[in-house]
Amino acid sequence: MNFIDLLEQRRFLGENIDKAVMSVVNSGKYIMGPEVEELEKQLADFSNVKHVIANSSGTDALLLPLMAWGIGKGDSVLVPAFTFVATAEVVALTGATPIFCDIDTRTYNLDVESVKEALKKSSSLGLNAKAIMPVDLFGLPADFDPIIEIAKKHSLLVLDDACQGYGGVYKGKKIGSIGDAAATSFFPAKPLGCYGDGGATFTNDSELYEKMLSIRVHGQGENRYHNVRIGLNARMDTIQAAILLQKLAIFPEELKKRDEVAKKYNKAFEKLAITPVLPEGYFSSWAQYTLCIPKGERERVIKALTECGIPTAIYYPIPLHKQPGYAHFPSASDELPVSEDLCDRVFSLPMHPYLDDITQQRVIDAVTSILGE
Ligand SMILES: Cc1ncc(COP(=O)(O)O)c(C=O)c1O
Repeated sequence: MNFIDLLEQRRFLGENIDKAVMSVVNSGKYIMGPEVEELEKQLADFSNVKHVIANSSGTDALLLPLMAWGIGKGDSVLVPAFTFVATAEVVALTGATPIFCDIDTRTYNLDVESVKEALKKSSSLGLNAKAIMPVDLFGLPADFDPIIEIAKKHSLLVLDDACQGYGGVYKGKKIGSIGDAAATSFFPAKPLGCYGDGGATFTNDSELYEKMLSIRVHGQGENRYHNVRIGLNARMDTIQAAILLQKLAIFPEELKKRDEVAKKYNKAFEKLAITPVLPEGYFSSWAQYTLCIPKGERERVIKALTECGIPTAIYYPIPLHKQPGYAHFPSASDELPVSEDLCDRVFSLPMHPYLDDITQQRVIDAVTSILGE
């Protein structure tokens, strides 16, 4: 059994993808070919947003708006401590200071009370708070309403780290369309993944879009050899765009299947562990299905599951404010108790749209018997 079965999808889409890839190979337009623009159009339609910039990874997709906003030394950006490292990494790369915030005990997404503390910390350190980066962790949209309210009050920009959340919906709004900008990742294991690295940045702000277009290609101005700002090589390969176009066509169906898998897990485990919540009005892309169990239990449970042939993963074993490369950055408060506690208690189970009933039942039976011991 695989934790995420990428090859299973090829049984449905393989032929179409192979044709699309060969068509790019035979076109000779390997970088930023017409498929890239077509993908941007289709992603904009899918997310109900004005502009999309397809690019080289989720990390670059996050970096583009931060650079375009001119965020840098002396500025702070508020990020959760319980996330993948890239959320804070891109802030540090600009020269700005990430300030780590705690998360909500049930949704595992940014806790607004901790954000308020982080704003006080930012001022006490003499930093200018410029932006806030909610993360749609494990696919669950962040609680944007209170975040946007606090952002407005303090003139902060909102960058949604939707690297796990693409396909999600928050109170009728598609992920990608919320905040001043959003960024997603097409890393192969993501709900919408390509066959390598890829990402996309979303915005309704046309001025920001123009700047990001320039930054994507070395800060270009009128042409490739006219460089008006510091930029990146953050282009998307045409082959990846061609693959994503094929995958996007079946993405809504896959999202439904993920949701069915998650609901079945939730029903099976609700009395055995803390199962993921799905607040009213939210749709999760279920990038991960994560259980939380009492401290000290995890090692035994994972070992027993491994012996039964059930793969697991731990997202995340160390909160970012305790990571050696990041511990020197400030946190909203001396301790971030929810993030610290969860890192010792969570583990994720196999989750993908092609998890058939028999395989899922094997997971359910094993988890039920091990957690029930
Ligand atoms: C929350 C989060 N942010 C950023 C990234 C970075 O995306 P990529 O690996 O495509 O650069 C990831 C990818 O795992 C992620 O999960």
